[in-house]
Amino acid sequence: MSRGAQNQVSRTRDLPKPNEYVQALLGEFSPWAFDEEKAPTLKGGWRDEFQVGGTDPVDLEIGTGNGFHFAWRAEQNPDRSLVGIELKYKPLIQTIRRARKNDSSNARMLRYNARLLKDLFEPGELDNVFVHHPDPWPKKSQKKHRLIQPEFLEELYALQKPGSFFEFKTDSEDYFDWALPMFEKSQYEVEGSTRDLHNSEFASRNFVTHFESLFLRKGQPIYYAFMWKR
Ligand SMILES: C[S@@+](CC[C@H](N)C(=O)[O-])C[C@H]1O[C@@H](n2cnc3c(N)ncnc32)[C@H](O)[C@@H]1O
Repeated sequence: MSRGAQNQVSRTRDLPKPNEYVQALLGEFSPWAFDEEKAPTLKGGWRDEFQVGGTDPVDLEIGTGNGFHFAWRAEQNPDRSLVGIELKYKPLIQTIRRARKNDSSNARMLRYNARLLKDLFEPGELDNVFVHHPDPWPKKSQKKHRLIQPEFLEELYALQKPGSFFEFKTDSEDYFDWALPMFEKSQYEVEGSTRDLHNSEFASRNFVTHFESLFLRKGQPIYYAFMWKR
């Protein structure tokens, strides 16, 4: 991890006062949720971890929040495996708890910084990828903190298998206006995008996440893009 302080992830075991979520990560949920020390040890070995075949799909959700989408997707797709990444302990544990309540054995959560995906997956190891409502970092000086950057897209693209997709949505118009040109310039093939997901052709297959529901309630549109790695 040599890409500067903002890209580093602190060590869970160094925390002076582990709260209930940290304790749950290190204890009750440790068979299915991995801290930043264990997570990179699974790089290249995700299909062994899930005990599936070499070509079986392993999908990724980045920034799961409280895990409504993650748990739903794992339950709806028992023939696919699903890895989630969260930086914060509380949403991390909420997510894995929700998936375990559904008896989803195809779900794992990682406490990690999603900017460092190359630590976690080999090229071509991932299938479909979901980024829903990433932190907006709205001020001009904060945009460098946004997850979507040309270098990130290049790395993510390399980690995905040909024939897989990348789904992105946000409640921030400014973020969308920033990200869409990057998607279009990237190696992804943008199948479609919309400035109003809920009044679009993509609405019928959409799952409303927790953050999305907050913005929908305020009557705000959701911005969406769907891309392929061919
Ligand atoms: C605005 S919330 C959206 C949560 C969820 N996807 C939803 O739509 O309800 C963004 C989430 O991404 C997580 N996050 C932000 N930056 C991250 C990073 N670099 N690596 C992993 N998770 C991150 C945050 O902790 C937060 O839970």
